[in-house]
Amino acid sequence: MFMKHDLFRKKTLEDINRDVAAGLADEHGTGKMHKVLTTRDLTLMGIAAIVGAGIFSTIGKASFDGGPGIILLFLFVSVACGFSAICYAEFASMVPVSGSAYTYSYVAFGEIIAWIIGWDLLMEYAIGNIAVAISWSDYFTSLINSIHIGSFRLHIPEYLATDYWTAKNGAINTKLIHVIPWMADKWVESKAAIDTANTAWMNAPAIGSFRFICNLPAFLITFIITWIIYIGIKESRKTTNVMVILKLAIIILVIIAGAFYVHPINWHPFLPNGIKGVLAGTSAVFFSYIGFDAISTTAEECKDPQRDLPKAMFNSLIICTIIYVVIALVLTGMVSYKELNIGDPMSYVFTAMHNKYAEWISGIIAISAVIAMASVLLVYQLGQPRIWMSMSRDGLLPPIFAKIHPKYKTPSFSTILTGILVGIPALFMNLTVVVDLTSVGTLFAFVLVCGGILKLQNSSHRLQSKFKTPYVNGKFIIPAMFVLSLVLVWKFGLGKLSITNIPSNLLMENMHYILFGIVFLITSILAYKNSYSLIPALGFLCCTYLLCESGTTNWLRFIIWLFVGLALYFVYGYWNSKLTAKNKK
Ligand code: ALA
Repeated sequence: MFMKHDLFRKKTLEDINRDVAAGLADEHGTGKMHKVLTTRDLTLMGIAAIVGAGIFSTIGKASFDGGPGIILLFLFVSVACGFSAICYAEFASMVPVSGSAYTYSYVAFGEIIAWIIGWDLLMEYAIGNIAVAISWSDYFTSLINSIHIGSFRLHIPEYLATDYWTAKNGAINTKLIHVIPWMADKWVESKAAIDTANTAWMNAPAIGSFRFICNLPAFLITFIITWIIYIGIKESRKTTNVMVILKLAIIILVIIAGAFYVHPINWHPFLPNGIKGVLAGTSAVFFSYIGFDAISTTAEECKDPQRDLPKAMFNSLIICTIIYVVIALVLTGMVSYKELNIGDPMSYVFTAMHNKYAEWISGIIAISAVIAMASVLLVYQLGQPRIWMSMSRDGLLPPIFAKIHPKYKTPSFSTILTGILVGIPALFMNLTVVVDLTSVGTLFAFVLVCGGILKLQNSSHRLQSKFKTPYVNGKFIIPAMFVLSLVLVWKFGLGKLSITNIPSNLLMENMHYILFGIVFLITSILAYKNSYSLIPALGFLCCTYLLCESGTTNWLRFIIWLFVGLALYFVYGYWNSKLTAKNKK
């Protein structure tokens, strides 16, 4: 049966180095990948993956909940990502193969955790890309619909640009609003969004009671991007570079133009809904930072992964943090935060200025959003097949997943499968659920990567890293931070309660804080015992905190997802792992 030591068997750096020296060819004998990427390409790829649906779309609701103080969350999340980026960078310079957090966990924790992470990364890349494809379609549709050629107006039918459930809900909500008109103000969706969904439902071709409704643009963009990735890394690089330079130029233009419309009065109150309001945007803000880690999946296509990947991760994260904080300041400075509960906040703030010049900029933003999101799609579509390729080489997935195209030198089967897995659900799925799942999945990977560096703190593996996480002894600092947070929680939270007025649901409502407190306590004890390095420990704690903030429903979905993954591992991966074969020899 399954032996504990088998489940945690580790891949050694010697094995990995031997594979690298042998050329990492696939079992089909079609060769290795092209090594063409430089620090500049990787930095642009990082920005390509980071700046997308988050800043163009989900930031709207986060700003509405948090007010101008949302910039504090942007800074906090950027610091948390910064700690994780340092750990990713160290792993990337230690393990020069594609596979990202999956391969890193194989080295640090062993096979079963590596499988869990590989399965979990499917959430970040494939499910994340479904979200991006759907957002892309929203912006693309409004862009096309705004084009007039003489008296002719271009138009994509609503039923070809939304999902079935959104359209059905639109029809139900329209009926409800008709019966109870004041309900319209209470809805989370805007009246315009409900009208569009209702139009989709009413105009959709029907066979009997079945209505034909799907998100065709989301499918088509996934198809086109998959094709670019399939035909080669050079083509992907060129496309990414052009898209990133364009989107950065437009974003800078927007920031400069927006600065003229800022009214500092809109920054008061800074925290209208307190820290709680700010934290409500955690998933959305974190989503907007995801991506710097994705470039580590291209390790085998880099000229010098151990040198270039760490640099590129830091560059892209720093550039994006500056962009995000400035954009958040401009958005919340141009209009009241109360107006920002919308899907296209960047375009909206300019339209709301009601002048011709600002409306023109609003059109440019729509173009920029379409480009930005396409570039995110590209990097993630690129990342997923490379993770599968690594898992397949280790025997955890069938060999076909590692097959390299003889001419294009890309993982052909995995690339096509990723296209299908993203493109088909993008036709039918709804946006909100996928954004949350992506954030939870990615945070989980970050927690394990930071934990991995802590685990390897004194291991000889680290001798191979060209980049090492700077060591600051956390022996006393982390326990001191724990005590300080207890004092703060007592002073500003629990201290207000007396023994007679503890609400009965206090425990349930604060379960996530309690869980985090337990993890913090255990980490403090271990930090004291093992003199933990401060940076990975802080990365681990920050990401665990953000995970705990992600909501119980998301946790539940995530756990179900992991169980499905584990079942697959025990059916296939465990028995076919290369390490099983090695042990049998
Ligand atoms: N950070 C990526 C985006 O915002 C996922 O689209």
